[in-house]
Amino acid sequence: MLPEPDADARAASARLGARIRAEIAAGGNWIGFARYMEMALHEPGLGYYAGGAAKLGAPGDFTTAPEMGTLFARTLARQVAEILQPGEAILEFGAGSGALAEALTAELAPQRYLILETSAELTARQRARLGERAQWIERLPARFRGVMLANEVADAMPVHALAWRREGLMERGVSEIGGALAWAERPAAGELREAARQLAVPVPYESEVGLMARAWVKLLAARLERGALLIVDYGFPEREYYHPQRAMGTLMCHYRHRAHGDVFFHPGLQDITAHVDFTALARAARESGLEVLGYANQMGFLVDCGITELLGREDAGDVVRYAPLAAEAQKLLSPAEMGELFKVLALGRGVSRPLLGFANCDRSHTL
Ligand SMILES: C[S@@+](CC[C@H](N)C(=O)[O-])C[C@H]1O[C@@H](n2cnc3c(N)ncnc32)[C@H](O)[C@@H]1O
Repeated sequence: MLPEPDADARAASARLGARIRAEIAAGGNWIGFARYMEMALHEPGLGYYAGGAAKLGAPGDFTTAPEMGTLFARTLARQVAEILQPGEAILEFGAGSGALAEALTAELAPQRYLILETSAELTARQRARLGERAQWIERLPARFRGVMLANEVADAMPVHALAWRREGLMERGVSEIGGALAWAERPAAGELREAARQLAVPVPYESEVGLMARAWVKLLAARLERGALLIVDYGFPEREYYHPQRAMGTLMCHYRHRAHGDVFFHPGLQDITAHVDFTALARAARESGLEVLGYANQMGFLVDCGITELLGREDAGDVVRYAPLAAEAQKLLSPAEMGELFKVLALGRGVSRPLLGFANCDRSHTL
């Protein structure tokens, strides 16, 4: 049983629900799931990321690596420092509470730390936390040199939902049925159909295709003159993503630290995510002239960057300080927690390899 939101939150969700229903009606009682997810997460003033709920950390719905302490950021800083050249900038996408930016600027003191954040509400929180240490931009610069970072951002990009049926390939979308929002399917067409035809899955099968994340990578590739884009997120390479056993797809909702599958639970009050298909992102990058500089699971990446050495510098006798750091390392590295499911993909131009974080990585992690 999920906890019931309070009356104000339910009222905000009802307002978003009315907008979604109006759009469904205008579309002949159907919108594609990608549009539903876009509205549920990003609708101005009412979407999950646009609204005022806590979202990150203990009072919110989920906890990310930068929220757990500074070990993740301090380790990542080593990789960023290796790539960054004098005068270049760091650009973070979707900076959440500002925790990663705070720790990275303390560690690296870069000349410029830019943040591109779609949520006005989170931007306000980041500004209050970081002040002069960062600059907020609303649009991607025409040309960029340096390091772009996106931790748990790609999973928040709307995905198209597909169903492979005996009757053919269907796009899953949302209709209003008996007064409630419900899944409904239509034949898939266009770019989505083309993307799905590349995938070999058994029938019946349901999954997602992240066309928007691919377009985002292509856009960044076009602007990245020199440097790298580091994407950290949960997901798989294509052969695991579209594995016969994953026949129900990867959509997941987060509400007050509970993960569940009901995408229609109080739209706007919960996070909706899909796992990232890293093969598709690597392909989009290569098609746009970027090189794949590295791909590893989070454990391999952080170990290669020296997380154990950072931990080893701490005084293990100082239990009050050491115990939380050890717990943080355990969450970041353990295959049962974030170590295996989370991956790091490095894409770049004009950067010499191998990068620190991928120097010894297990070659079974191929795209
Ligand atoms: C799951 S939170 C992760 C926050 C932070 N990176 C962290 O690791 O704690 C997703 C973040 O991405 C932002 N976001 C979602 N879509 C985005 C996009 N297309 N461009 C930039 N930021 C985006 C959200 O507003 C939010 O700040």
